[in-house]
Amino acid sequence: MKRLGILLSGRGSNFEAIARSIEEGRLNAEIAVVISNRAEAPGIEIALARGLKAVHISSKGLDREAYDAQLVKELKENHVELVCLAGYMRMLSASFVREFPMRILNIHPSLLPAFPGLDAQHQAFEYGVKISGCTVHFVDEQLDHGPIVLQAHVPVLATDDSDTLAARILKEEHRIYSEAVAIVLNGRYRVEGRRVIEEV
Ligand code: GRF
Repeated sequence: MKRLGILLSGRGSNFEAIARSIEEGRLNAEIAVVISNRAEAPGIEIALARGLKAVHISSKGLDREAYDAQLVKELKENHVELVCLAGYMRMLSASFVREFPMRILNIHPSLLPAFPGLDAQHQAFEYGVKISGCTVHFVDEQLDHGPIVLQAHVPVLATDDSDTLAARILKEEHRIYSEAVAIVLNGRYRVEGRRVIEEV
C-alpha cells in the first residue's frame, strides 16, 4: 500500500476527505503520518480521532531550511512516498522540494494560474470572475506553480459572497484531491513540459 504524508496548518477538511476516500475504498493508500506546523490545528485532532499518527513540529527558532529538514526526517522515517499539502500555510524550501521530486501535491482554491497566494476565493470574487474553481498541482520551487494534475470549475453566482463561493469550491476540492492522488499513485500519467497527461 502506498504511504501518504499529509502536511497541514489548520482545519484539515481536505485531509479528512482523503482519509474518507481511503476508508470508503475509493483510494488505495494509507496515511502514514499527518504533520502540522501549528499545535492547535484542528486537523491534528481529526487525525488522532481517526487513530492516525499525528505530529506537531514547531518552527520556533528554526530557519526554513532547518525546519524543512525536520519535516523531511519525519516523512522519511515514516516511509512516505507521496506528500500531500492540505492547507499547509508555509512555503517549502527548495531543498525540501528536491527531496520529493514530483512527489508533492498541493490543492489551491482557484483555477491556477489565476489568483495564487492567500485568500484565493476572495481574490477571485473581488476580481469579478464568472468562473472559479480549484486546482491540484505538483509542487515545485515556486508558490502555487507546478504542473496541474486536475482542476474543477465552479460558477460564481450573482447571489454569492466570497464565503458561499469558497464553500462551493471546497466541495470540489474534496472531490478532486483524492482523484488526483489516485492518478499519481497509480502512475497513470506522463508529464510533457507543464502538461500532465492522464493515461487511461
Ligand atoms: C483549502 O481551501 C485549500 O485549497 C487551501 O487551504 C484550505 C485548507 O482547508 N490550500 P482545509 O484545512 O483542508 O479544510
